[in-house]
Amino acid sequence: MGNFVIIGGSSGIGQGIASRLIDKGHIVVNMSRNPCNISGVKNIVFDVTTDEVNTESLPDVINGLVYCPGSIHLKGFKSIKEDQFLADLQINVFGAIKCIKACLPKIAKDGKGSILMFSTVAVQLGMPFHTSVAVSKGAIEGLVRSLAAELAPQIRVNALAPSLTDTPLASQLLSNEEKKERSANMHPLKRYGNSNDLANAATFLLTEESSWITGQIIGVDGGLSTLKV
Ligand SMILES: NC(=O)c1ccc[n+]([C@@H]2O[C@H](COP(=O)([O-])OP(=O)(O)OC[C@H]3O[C@@H](n4cnc5c(N)ncnc54)[C@H](OP(=O)(O)O)[C@@H]3O)[C@@H](O)[C@H]2O)c1
Repeated sequence: MGNFVIIGGSSGIGQGIASRLIDKGHIVVNMSRNPCNISGVKNIVFDVTTDEVNTESLPDVINGLVYCPGSIHLKGFKSIKEDQFLADLQINVFGAIKCIKACLPKIAKDGKGSILMFSTVAVQLGMPFHTSVAVSKGAIEGLVRSLAAELAPQIRVNALAPSLTDTPLASQLLSNEEKKERSANMHPLKRYGNSNDLANAATFLLTEESSWITGQIIGVDGGLSTLKV
């Protein structure tokens, strides 16, 4: 069984990943501002925008690291402030870089490991009002591919690119029946995502089940990025 560190396992997709990994018998450490309420998870209070990663409180060997914090600020390009781009880069990109850099010596320790990040469908498919999130997640996609090349063969690096998924982060976009129906219908598979959809794929990419997969951005998006039906 392995040791997994989840940055942002207190809610949404990260919480789903924590639950899956615990069910499979792994050791899970969550780092976020609020605790993860899944039984068996070790919690460390951590704000990625202000705190340094204290690796002494993490397991000596980390088999998988997943970085979940992110943002969805949807606004027209004319009205969105440059500061918003910076804030989104901070949480989505520099936060991930900080955590990966700190944990890297422990991930490489037993010769193999896995790092997982999150992009969005809005990088592959241009959508209005998505410039800021697309800039940040586009950077994540570049980071994933170049880091995967640099860290092979010991460490695999991948990302999931979700479409709209029912989590606290997306609650404004699914706040009434009309929004829910419209959101479901825009996907070829006629529903929006849920945490389990993403947690299943994430657990696969984090564990040795995916030992021949690296440098990939995998769409978990109800077909939105590639299909027109
Ligand atoms: N949901 C969607 O529709 C959607 C679509 C495309 C991409 N994504 C991406 O998928 C990833 C997961 O999203 P989600 O929907 O599961 O989000 P979520 O429900 O908001 O969960 C985010 C997690 O990150 C933690 N977090 C946020 N800010 C933090 C900070 N400053 N320091 C430490 N931890 C922090 C939160 O914990 P605390 O608040 O307790 O700190 C929480 O555990 C994100 O990268 C997001 O951009 C989501």
